[in-house]
Amino acid sequence: MPATAIVGLQWGDEGKAKILDELAQASDIVCRYQGGANAGHTVVVSGEKFAFHTVPSGIAHPGKLCAVGNGVALDPVALLEEIRALEARGLEVRSRLVISERAHLVLAYHKALEALDERSRGTGAIGTTLRGIGPCYADKAARAGFRVADLLRPGSFRKKLAERLKRVNAEIELVFGGKPLSPDEVAEEALAAGRELAPMVGDVSELLNDALDRGRSVLFEGAQGTLLDVDFGTYPFVTSSSASVLGVSAGTGIAPQRIDRVLGVMKAYTTRVGSGPFPTELNDETGSRLRERGREFGTTTGRSRRCGWFDAVATRFAARLNAVTEVALTKLDVLAGEPVLRIATAYVLPDGTRTDRFPAALDDLEAARPVYEEHQGWSGPLGEIRRAEDLPPAARSYVERLTGLVGAQTALISVGEGRGATIRLS
Ligand code: GDP
Ligand code: IMO
Ligand code: MG
Repeated sequence: MPATAIVGLQWGDEGKAKILDELAQASDIVCRYQGGANAGHTVVVSGEKFAFHTVPSGIAHPGKLCAVGNGVALDPVALLEEIRALEARGLEVRSRLVISERAHLVLAYHKALEALDERSRGTGAIGTTLRGIGPCYADKAARAGFRVADLLRPGSFRKKLAERLKRVNAEIELVFGGKPLSPDEVAEEALAAGRELAPMVGDVSELLNDALDRGRSVLFEGAQGTLLDVDFGTYPFVTSSSASVLGVSAGTGIAPQRIDRVLGVMKAYTTRVGSGPFPTELNDETGSRLRERGREFGTTTGRSRRCGWFDAVATRFAARLNAVTEVALTKLDVLAGEPVLRIATAYVLPDGTRTDRFPAALDDLEAARPVYEEHQGWSGPLGEIRRAEDLPPAARSYVERLTGLVGAQTALISVGEGRGATIRLS
């Protein structure tokens, strides 16, 4: 299939990069369409671990072309650091990376504003990654932002930035009581990175449309997950972009009808980083076991991920929204040794009603009590299994139940972090 989107169906960290890595060999281009350095995407090749943030994880495949779409919140300093770190490990990046000239810039003031804003929210903090993502997208919508193309025009960039910083510094000082930023320092840091990134800047929309015209295959790499989508996630505890497939077109400049296939990635249980409702969260020993066995610690911030049972209400909602053509189930191996597995199939809301719909209202989500069904677990490790028929019967029936509840075919089952630790079903 020429154009495939790979999207998270939960609250991020579903193992999207691992799945993308399995499909990238058979593709020509990998393109990120939203998010920024808030993402942490892990790929393990021959025991060597790579963590990607803004660079598409397709770069782990030598020779593949990668693109950063206009929908990405691009921190030029962080991106350059990431490129250099990857090069130091022997990956060729610069000749294979194209950065959209229309991508919005994350500048030092976005990160400063976010830190102050998060602090001022106190116990109501979102628990963001502090990568400047929210303020960057806020500027974009407010028509006050800066784009990659501006970075290539230093004269007007410095002037416009100095103007913008008058307002920003007023907010920093008067609203938050913080220290104002120096326009020169903010500009020069970004411009220095921009000079080195300049040879990689191009028209990503044109590149993708031309490639698709010529029958090339493109993978769109989602960051975060659908439940963190700014419109359809657990607002306001979301990220500030369209993390679902709905973001692909606006974030890359290819029309929706060009997307042929949507692969939803879901973990065999649920995790979430940061604040916000999480109906199936386990604040007990089972949750701790999942965290330890699944090594659920953030790739970007190192924070512990909150862990819980698989939530079929939330994941079905996400699968439907994305109109997934199939799903990839990850981290099934982590559940080995759990005697009983639970799946939430409905919620009971504060007024006593039972629903299998994912609520929009924060109050309902926060108070929703999951209704569980129980499944028998299995004990043996799954890491070496490559055929579905070799899975223990209890694991097979767990997968079949998840697939049925989510309402999509399972195309891949991941049973380990390494490349190749995957069962292909189609
Ligand atoms: P992403 O943000 O969706 O790409 O996911 P992350 O990379 O942040 O988190 C997923 C973590 O689980 C990474 O450390 C992966 O290496 C690891 N992982 C992915 N798939 C599997 C799997 O099937 N089994 C195990 N045990 N680990 C996996
Ligand atoms: P990947 O791509 C998990 C969470 C943060 C916070 C909320 C808003 O690795 O799946 P932000 O910095 O985006 O404004 O934070 O979103 N968050 C993620 N959680 N995986 C991610 O990315 C995330 N990116 C942001 O923890 O709750
Ligand atoms: Mg991640």
